[in-house]
Order: sequence, then structure tokens, then C-alpha cells
Amino acid sequence: MTFVKMLWLKETPVTQNLSRRDFMRNAATFSSAAFAARHLTLEADPIPSPPRPAPPSDTIRFGIIGVGMRGVDLLAASLKLPGVQCAAACDLYSGRRELAKEIIENASVPVASRYQDLLDNKEIDAIIAAVPDHWHMQLVVEATGAGKDVYCEKPMSHTVAEGFKMVEAQEKNNRIVQIGSQRRSSIGFAKARELVQQGAIGEVTLVEATLGRNDPCGAWVYTIPPDLSPQTVDWETWLGPAPKRPFDAVRWTRWRCFQDYGEGIPGDLFVHELTGFHYVMGVQAPPLRAMSTGGLFRWKDGRDVPDQISTLYEYPNFRALVHVTLNTDMPEFTRFYGTRGYIEAHGEGEWVMMAPQDGLDHEPCTPAWPKPMKKEYAEKWLVEHGLKPGQGKVIEAQTYSTPPDYDTTREHLWNFFQSVRTRQPSVEDANFGNNTAIACHMANYSYFHKSIAIWDAKARRIKT
Ligand SMILES: NC(=O)c1ccc[n+]([C@@H]2O[C@H](COP(=O)([O-])OP(=O)(O)OC[C@H]3O[C@@H](n4cnc5c(N)ncnc54)[C@H](O)[C@@H]3O)[C@@H](O)[C@H]2O)c1
Repeated sequence: MTFVKMLWLKETPVTQNLSRRDFMRNAATFSSAAFAARHLTLEADPIPSPPRPAPPSDTIRFGIIGVGMRGVDLLAASLKLPGVQCAAACDLYSGRRELAKEIIENASVPVASRYQDLLDNKEIDAIIAAVPDHWHMQLVVEATGAGKDVYCEKPMSHTVAEGFKMVEAQEKNNRIVQIGSQRRSSIGFAKARELVQQGAIGEVTLVEATLGRNDPCGAWVYTIPPDLSPQTVDWETWLGPAPKRPFDAVRWTRWRCFQDYGEGIPGDLFVHELTGFHYVMGVQAPPLRAMSTGGLFRWKDGRDVPDQISTLYEYPNFRALVHVTLNTDMPEFTRFYGTRGYIEAHGEGEWVMMAPQDGLDHEPCTPAWPKPMKKEYAEKWLVEHGLKPGQGKVIEAQTYSTPPDYDTTREHLWNFFQSVRTRQPSVEDANFGNNTAIACHMANYSYFHKSIAIWDAKARRIKT
């Protein structure tokens, strides 16, 4: 029996940014039961705003290293947080130092080209590290060693071995380390976690996460700044632990396309999907196995990473499929498949839908029975199930959205600074970040080795 009855119940006003079209599309996927939906707007714990004046003793002074695409957002968002003050910024490209000054709008804040100046500065409590991935380990080790707490961008590590050095640095130096996968602070994903942990959709046996892009910027083909040269960039330092090579403006600008500095799609994009579902599913270890397939189909511009990759992961109690393409624009979602329904979280959790299922037949299951036998059974079945002919069960879905001005980056930074202030563990410490990063490395290992990647927990390495 197939019919869909739409019922839009508002418990709080439906906000402008809700995609009713998405909702309708999802509703249309129900095929065998009547469907009603209830909507709730989630509430975030308030962050005091505008900034309250904080006494100097209660003010966290941070320094930012790397004021590029991500650093700009982190700097601008941090400047608006109460009780937080920027004490210094650093970048090894002059254009980005100019940009830092533009954002900070305070000539007394030093903007350096050497990150060591920030680590030596005793006034600085915390470091935000928004540098390319091949620099993460060194900065976390050095900064925690210098007594600073660190917010380090995702993915935590560039290699498996580096990840364990970072965990060790966090523990040995007893510092707050938070990895910058902001989805870990999303109230949408927190709602999905609550529902999954309550058993609202039964046992979750499969997770699917996907997104797609279809434009040069999305495929990391960023425009090269016209003044980029060895005179404006400290190229030797930028290379850091990567193989030495002459100045290369393409590599500096589009480092995500090269394995020497990034981890391609897994490190750049899977990491967000993995963070979301590791959090929801309570994952506390890397996956057991991973198998990837993909290819470089379109962006053949000299890059050495694929532009499409799909990975099947095996976790002890569920399986996951993550697939990302840079060749088709597709909405981003994470879907949790349970024995009693599914939950779908869009983007960073701005929109979450729970569609329960009872896991039962909604009509007699009598394939290829002769008509009289079928009819007799159907009549009995309807009576037993308290239904009349033509009547179906009503399933009530629940949708949730975040408030219009909700911003996961701001929430994630706020959580970091609260950990710095209270010394309570970070929401996404180096152990959490390491498990997620290892899953990214496993995806790449399987892709490049053309074999299944197995996590050897005892040896702390990936093997075939
Ligand atoms: N959480 C997110 O949503 C998100 C989004 C984008 C990027 N990221 C992450 O943020 C990090 C930075 O990415 P991006 O896109 O901003 O890169 P980017 O290349 O635009 O900016 C990095 C900046 O760091 C500077 N830099 C590099 N090494 C340095 C060093 N040793 N000392 C001082 N400055 C140094 C570079 O000059 C550059 O300006 C990456 O790890 C990336 O994965 C996270």
C-alpha cells in the first residue's frame, strides 16, 4: 500500500535556511507507509555576544600560524569571541601577513614571518595552526613543548607515524590539543548522536557519507597570487619536512593536489565525514579494514592524487561507505541506516531528519500465491494487524535544523578556548583526531596499493 500524507508540524518557527525541497525529496522516498513529519529548531548553548569585557587574568591570548584560506576564517571568528585576544599572527608569505593585518585591525599586534617568534612569546597561551598538513606534526610537537595549547587544523597528521607523535606530545606536555574538524562541535551531529545512542533507529549497521564538487575552486585549482615568488614567500621553510625542490607557485597555492603536502580527497574531505560519523557512532579506534577505488578522471593538471575516490570501511559493529567526487556537484549528507529507520544529516548538521521504520511488513507477504488463497490470507492478516482495507500505518518523521546564524567553526573554536580556560579535555583531542586521520590514510593506502588496507593496532601501522 503506497501513499504519502504530508503534515508539517511546527514546534518552533521554521527558519529561512531550511530546505523544504530537501524535506519533500526525503519524504518522497517513503513508499510503503503514510508519512508525517515534525520539525524542531535546535538550540545551541549561547556564546556571550557581543564580547563581554574580560579581566586580563581571564583573557586567553592566542597566536595564529598560517593566515591562508582557513586561517582567515579562524582568525576572524576568534576575534569575535569573548575573553579571547589575538596576541600575534604569522605567515611566511608577505601577502598573507598583509591580510592578517587587515583582519586584526590593530597595529600593536605583531605579524611575524617566523613561527618560532610566537612560540617564544610567553604572553601567548594558545596557538591556532592553520598551515598545510605536512606541517601539522612539527607545529603541534613544538608548540606543546613550548607550553602552548594548540588548535590544529584537520586532518591531524600527514602520516600514521606523525599522528602517534602528536598524541604523545599532547600527553607528555599535558596540553590541550584540539583538531579542527568543526563537525565535532555541531549540534546537528550531536542530535544525530543522541538519537543513535538512544536506539531511536535500532541497530545501525551501515553509514554512508558523500559529497561532490564541480568547479575548479572545488577541485583545488586556486588562482595563483600574481606577486608569489621566492622574494615574497619563504619557500625553504614552507617545504619543511617535504622533499626539497625549486620554488613552485603551483605547489604552494594548490598543495592539496600533491601527496608531499596533503592527502588528496581523504585528508581534505573524507576527514569531515569520518569525524561526523565517528562522533555519532562513538568510534574510538581506527577502522579494521578499508578498500578504496577511484581515479583521476578529469583534473589532469599534474596532480598526483585522484579526483574521485570511494572507500568501504569495516568497523567492528558496522560498515561505512564514503565517496567523494570532484567531478559532479552533489549535496553533502551522512546517512545512518538502522534496523528501525534511518537518520540523514545534511552538510555539517544544519538539517537532520530521522525517519523511523518498524521493520515489519505493511501488507501481507504472499508472493505468487493463487488469488483465493491470497485473498483469504489478506483478510485474516488485516484483522490480525488491526487495519482496514486501504489503510496504511502512519510513520512520523522528525526533522531538526540549526538556527540561521549557527556556525560550527565558531562553536568549535569556542569549545577549544573553553577547554583552555577550564583545563577540561577538548571535544576533539589528538586521540580522536588520530583515529580519524588514520582512516584517511587507510583510504589512500588502499587506493595507491590497489589492495585492502588493514589496521594493525599492535604495530600501529597499516598493512595489506
Ligand atoms: N576545517 C576546515 O573546514 C578547513 C577548511 C580549509 C582548510 N583546512 C585546513 O587548514 C589548513 C590550511 O589550509 P589552507 O587552505 O588555509 O591553506 P593555505 O595554503 O591557503 O594557507 C596556509 C598558510 O600557511 C602558511 N604557512 C605554511 N607553513 C608555514 C609555516 N611553517 N610558518 C608560517 N606560515 C606557514 C602559508 O604561507 C599559507 O599562507 C590545512 O590543514 C587544511 O586541511 C580546514
